Amino acid sequence: MSRKAANIISAQIILKNDCVLGLATGSTPIGIYDTLTHWCEKGDLDFSEVKTVNLDEYVGLDGTHDQSYRYFMNKNLFDRVNINKENTNVPNGKAENAEEECERYHNVIESMGGIDLQLLGIGNNGHIGFNEPADVFEEKVHKVELTESTIQANSRLFDSIDDVPRYAYTMGIGEIMSAKRILIVASGKVKAPIVKELIEGPVRPEVPASILKFHNDVILIADEDALSLV
Ligand code: GLP
Repeated sequence: MSRKAANIISAQIILKNDCVLGLATGSTPIGIYDTLTHWCEKGDLDFSEVKTVNLDEYVGLDGTHDQSYRYFMNKNLFDRVNINKENTNVPNGKAENAEEECERYHNVIESMGGIDLQLLGIGNNGHIGFNEPADVFEEKVHKVELTESTIQANSRLFDSIDDVPRYAYTMGIGEIMSAKRILIVASGKVKAPIVKELIEGPVRPEVPASILKFHNDVILIADEDALSLV
């Protein structure tokens, strides 16, 4: 799964060396970032002109916190490849003013002139980025209150569930959908019910990932476990 996804991302970089990649965190992309790192070390892939914009960040965590998404990206990709760190973007979890940070990050995305390839994972409840199940699809970058199920799922990475931030900044559904191509990855039995819902269910904001059906260039790469109910 990771190698196939990495192949698609590397093809994007090879076709357009100054491409804009929308990147994701979570356990699922780690193997993809390892593979890309390996290819970069071998000299097969050049990140020197690549620009990146990440989906989300926890509110309240500094980029040096080991559970922040900035830290994750540095550790799993940016510090291992020849990317110019100034060309990498993650929302600022420590911004003083949430509204201003959402506006700033929206402008960052706009200023890049369009995301060529957006990598997505999927939450057990169907979230993409941190767009949680809701009554409406939120269009732009916003601050979101995390659901109990997400806090529960992500608590595995923190010392205690009380340490999991309650809020996050996330790219909106509109910004994700405006990417030219979307690559969504899912792995493991735990994702099987939501992958089934994604493929077979209707489009509705209670399952944020379902909106991807309206995009005309989406690639789903999943392992057998994640596809076991389809
Ligand atoms: C996290 C992230 C998402 C990610 C999802 C699944 O909460 N905000 O971007 O796709 O949950 O993570 P994992 O790949 O660890 O299952």
